[in-house]
Amino acid sequence: MSALTVAIASDHGGIELRKSLVQLLETLGITYQEFGPETPESVDYPELAFTVSKKVTSGEVNRGILICGTGVGMSIAANKVPGIRCALVGDTFTAHATREHNDSNVIALGARVVGSGLASDIVKVWLNAEYEGGRHANRIDQITAFEREHL
Ligand code: RB5
Repeated sequence: MSALTVAIASDHGGIELRKSLVQLLETLGITYQEFGPETPESVDYPELAFTVSKKVTSGEVNRGILICGTGVGMSIAANKVPGIRCALVGDTFTAHATREHNDSNVIALGARVVGSGLASDIVKVWLNAEYEGGRHANRIDQITAFEREHL
């Protein structure tokens, strides 16, 4: 896992969860870049989602973690960036399945939905799981082809 590098961001709704996941990344020895506010004044999530997503698509980091109140806004914004496959995850089954099947490179979490214990388990599972390829590759290729044609 130590070869992984991560960009992590939250809006104002996810500061505490972001800090707790940054602590997790430090414990795991994972290099990270952190974005987002330090104080609870309202900020807009799209720019933060784009910043992290572009870090992933540029290859500067391998994976992205995005946190807002529900995770929904972050996931919608991240999935507008070509090459991003962002999964909104609230359980550990989806956390590994979305790596194995969707090769998700960004995960979105809802700080008002999951507690820090579950979020920590989700992130650990997601960081450790591997893309299976095989029958899933053709489906990912279809998404990539659509992006190339339409975006
Ligand atoms: C902010 O109030 C909230 O809209 C945001 O954190 C997120 O839940 C959006 O999807």
